Amino acid sequence: GSSGAILSYIMCKGMNRDPLAKLGLKYPLVVAPMAGGPSSPELVIASSQAGALGSVGAAYSNPAAITGFVEKVRAHTDRPFAINLFIQHPEPQVDASMIERAVAATAKYRTELDLPEPSFSAPYEEDFDQQFDAVLQAKPEVLSFVFGVLRAEHVRAARKAGMLIVGTATTPEEAQALEESGVDAITLLGFEAGGHRGIFDPSAADPELGLADLLAQSLRKVKVPLIAAGGIMTAADIRSALAMGASAVQMGTAFLSTTEAGTSAPYRTALQGVERTTRTTRAFSGRFARGVVNRFMNEVDAAAVMPFPAQNKFTRDIRAASAAKGSADFLSLWAGTGRGELWQGSAAGLIEKLFAD
Ligand SMILES: Cc1cc2nc3c(=O)[nH]c(=O)nc-3n(C[C@H](O)[C@H](O)[C@H](O)COP(=O)(O)O)c2cc1C
Repeated sequence: GSSGAILSYIMCKGMNRDPLAKLGLKYPLVVAPMAGGPSSPELVIASSQAGALGSVGAAYSNPAAITGFVEKVRAHTDRPFAINLFIQHPEPQVDASMIERAVAATAKYRTELDLPEPSFSAPYEEDFDQQFDAVLQAKPEVLSFVFGVLRAEHVRAARKAGMLIVGTATTPEEAQALEESGVDAITLLGFEAGGHRGIFDPSAADPELGLADLLAQSLRKVKVPLIAAGGIMTAADIRSALAMGASAVQMGTAFLSTTEAGTSAPYRTALQGVERTTRTTRAFSGRFARGVVNRFMNEVDAAAVMPFPAQNKFTRDIRAASAAKGSADFLSLWAGTGRGELWQGSAAGLIEKLFAD
């Protein structure tokens, strides 16, 4: 009848207004960017080929690594994918006494792992403008980012290159700031999510807002499409996030044990079991991030942790040596609060299962 026609017209209009619809994804699913290994080229390719949006976690990559990664992805798929970066803040002041405390607090681990005394100096992270230029050249369909707002000149350049721009918020206020900056969509990162909390201010207290509240509050404040992230593990979780008003979901932890993920062997072992105990910590990077509780998290004194990204650079040798030794004791085991045995098969198999009906 005519009411049906009107309804479908309204729905069409609604969909056309949703910039995510332009991507032509088969499923409203972003397979999360997971920098530091898990987001391998194979996982990005498999996710995008299966009809989701695969994501490159490029935050720790230099321009050459970003270019090389994207070449691998493009050689195997012409489906859309995203590249994800960390918005940078002024370099933190790290004085000699802070370094001394951090060195003393980690000395026994370096001894245990046969590591030399750390040599440690700025800069603590890759240069954002150079990373951004590499992303512009690579021209992914989507540029996503965490930790803040993209500068206006970068918004203009990304838009001119035809990329959709997706920011990340942990509060409705951050979502509002992102909308005002001109993003096309916003990932809402609930307190349940694995990995770094996306909080803009690196020294702020954690608002600890769960996904359901964050989504409900943000829907009242912003108009751009919202992508729900944090603790989403099953088809029922996806349905519920979409029913609450999300335009899509982003899932990280659920994909960590897929065959294509670059997750290391001791990390995979630590993820096994139905009940993973996770909490947030600043011990690894200096910013709050959620992961499976382990020795490093439990033992490192919060007073001996330097600000992000100094602490991140400072602990890199310890994390790498831990992985090489096959030990999960000193690894950042990022994972969300979602329960249940993780899917061990292909990413495509998991996506098929999640959207079976
Ligand atoms: C190992 C790991 C690494 C992550 N790295 C990033 C990252 O580089 N950039 C980012 O925006 N989010 C990162 N995240 C967060 C994910 O993109 C995603 O929002 C989160 O995993 C969703 O919650 P879930 O793990 O409960 O599914 C990471 C998460 C994990 C588990």
